[in-house]
Amino acid sequence: MKRIAIFASGTGSNFDAIIQAVDEGKLDCEIELLVCDRSNAPVIEKAQAKNIDTFIFRAKNYSDKAAYEQEILNICREKEIEWIFLAGYMRLIGPTLLKPFESRIVNIHPSLLPAFPGKDAIGQAFDKQVKITGVTIHFVDNGMDTGPIIEQEAVRIEAADTKATLQKKIQAIEHRLYPSVIHSLLVEEEVK
Ligand code: GRF
Repeated sequence: MKRIAIFASGTGSNFDAIIQAVDEGKLDCEIELLVCDRSNAPVIEKAQAKNIDTFIFRAKNYSDKAAYEQEILNICREKEIEWIFLAGYMRLIGPTLLKPFESRIVNIHPSLLPAFPGKDAIGQAFDKQVKITGVTIHFVDNGMDTGPIIEQEAVRIEAADTKATLQKKIQAIEHRLYPSVIHSLLVEEEVK
């Protein structure tokens, strides 16, 4: 079975959706590790409740990105991690992790990239009054939300939508789409 790590900084609703898909037998993999850069992030309790190992770090305690990413890399190697999935991880990934995990780090973003990269993509789309936004799953490169796109799903912003209702719609797509794309990536690799 494929061994994966999830990197997250916040609530962890996508982390939960991935765990649920594994529990329901829709996704065949071992979630070996949660990497989190915020010691008070709710996602940590979610991992602990499922007995998933966590590596929690403070970037400030390291000299630079290469230093903390080297420590993450060592743990990933120890745990024989094959894929990394970002789920609300609020840091750019540097070459220390990108090189050894080339085309094996995937991110989910709540807009139809290349529109609305960066923070608060849902708010950006809402404020611009676009009629269609959505969710993108893409490989991670050295830019912000710029890597090759794997999958996208659109959602229409209705006149009655508020930012909150739009967020709900986007999250519902994310929680269905991410586990199913992860499943496809792992299965495709299996048959190669
Ligand atoms: C999601 O909207 C994801 O697309 C973005 O960050 C958010 C994380 O939400 N990258 P959660 O912590 O999984 O609830």
